[in-house]
Amino acid sequence: MQNSITSTIAFVKKTLENAEAGHDWFHIERVYKTALNINEKEKGNEHVVIFAALLHDIADPKFNNGDEELGPKVAEDFLKSISVDNEVIAHVKLIIQNMSFKNSFDGAGFTSKEMQIVQDADRLDAIGAIGIARAFTYGGFKNRVLYDPAIKPQQHLTKESYKNTTAPTINHFYEKLLLLKDMMNTEAGKIIATERHNFMLQYLDHFYKEWEGN
Ligand code: ADP
Ligand code: NI
Repeated sequence: MQNSITSTIAFVKKTLENAEAGHDWFHIERVYKTALNINEKEKGNEHVVIFAALLHDIADPKFNNGDEELGPKVAEDFLKSISVDNEVIAHVKLIIQNMSFKNSFDGAGFTSKEMQIVQDADRLDAIGAIGIARAFTYGGFKNRVLYDPAIKPQQHLTKESYKNTTAPTINHFYEKLLLLKDMMNTEAGKIIATERHNFMLQYLDHFYKEWEGN
């Protein structure tokens, strides 16, 4: 087991070598640690949690021409190559296929305790101090403005409109980040999310004050 974790970590690090800072190895490492932390309370299958956390962003559709099947396939092929149990592989693949925020627009797909744990860990990395840093990094990568008082946040009702937004980064707080607290699956996730959520509210408060020169 330890060997297959070590090989997976090496594979993920290598694959994400040139990834944008919000989706790099350190994002994976944080999700991995947080998922293990939540799993201490939730007691899911640790192998599934570990492999799903490590491989969940192995080929993000955002950076692969929208291809949503590439990530699950790369994960599957890699886990087969290191002889992980077929049942574990199938479960990890389903988690990766169903985990993203965008996919939550499609209604209830696959779910399991392990899926809920890894999804919570990934969502937690999108909020709080790190979530703020990641949002502005992603916004910069996409050349978005920080804020524009004339452009109001939207409620995205479809996956397409969420994917295709070019809105200022501050809008992303209202369109996604502040919604995540109430989307947590696990009790442990909810507790961490509340603290990070409150920090973002405080941050926004300061942001608008400074915007006005105060
Ligand atoms: P998911 O894995 O659910 O698809 P994303 O990959 O879209 O989620 O989000 C990953 C990170 O990029 C998060 O920290 C998220 O806040 C950030 N991000 C995604 N879309 C935007 C956006 N339009 N503006 C700013 N940050 C974004
Ligand atoms: Ni992620």
